[in-house]
Amino acid sequence: MTPARRRPLVAGNWKMHTTPQSGVELARAIVRAGPPDGVDLVLCPPAIAVTDVARAVVGTTVRVGAQNMHWLDAGAFTGEISASMLAGVAEVVIVGHSERRGDFGETDEMVNRKLRAALAAGLTPIVCVGETESVRDAGGARALITAQVQAALEGVDSEAAGPLVMAYEPVWAIGTGRTASPEQAAEAIGWAREALGHALDAAAAERTRVLYGGSVSPANARELLAQDGVDGALVGGASLKADDFIAIARSAVP
Ligand code: PGA
Repeated sequence: MTPARRRPLVAGNWKMHTTPQSGVELARAIVRAGPPDGVDLVLCPPAIAVTDVARAVVGTTVRVGAQNMHWLDAGAFTGEISASMLAGVAEVVIVGHSERRGDFGETDEMVNRKLRAALAAGLTPIVCVGETESVRDAGGARALITAQVQAALEGVDSEAAGPLVMAYEPVWAIGTGRTASPEQAAEAIGWAREALGHALDAAAAERTRVLYGGSVSPANARELLAQDGVDGALVGGASLKADDFIAIARSAVP
């Protein structure tokens, strides 16, 4: 089980789903469904809905995050939003999701810059790492995860990384209905935690929550979240249904 000192976190990545209005309705339904005590719950709507969803959950235990941000504070970057724009509206930001890396060309260096900007702005970054199926089949998952963690944390010290959250999301499990087995998830999260220890220090490796993501559902969440070192879940598809998302969150209660 997750040690008591690491409070479980379950985050919903709504991806490119919901309008400001339907996002508010979903957030309200999630609040009505009853977020469990003892678990941090985060909703990550599309950027256009972040403000409205954040307003809708004021006074509840639910927190709001963005799915992406630019690493610079302001400038001629059409279509982008910065950490300082998010700060004050959202508390969390997903950084380096595999869809950003794979579909939008985000490099390890960009992930590192975004992570540093998020921390500097007082946001809690959820940094995603994970291998493709071909890398896993070739036996390269551990090396890739280690390299991604190291690159993401380049130039960051343990103290600055205080609120950091990581997510292990095997690319082959995202949106496919195929999850990592609980053993695979725990093993890979162990690799990520070891890399955290090398990149930062032992204290950071101990305190940093590492989530699993990739086709998490009410049916598989309990077994995944019961694994040693699996500190919560980053949920895509199932986070768009209030009852499913809350069922997953309940599975995370220590
Ligand atoms: P999924 O997405 O739960 O739909 O597989 C997870 C994610 O991309 O964070």
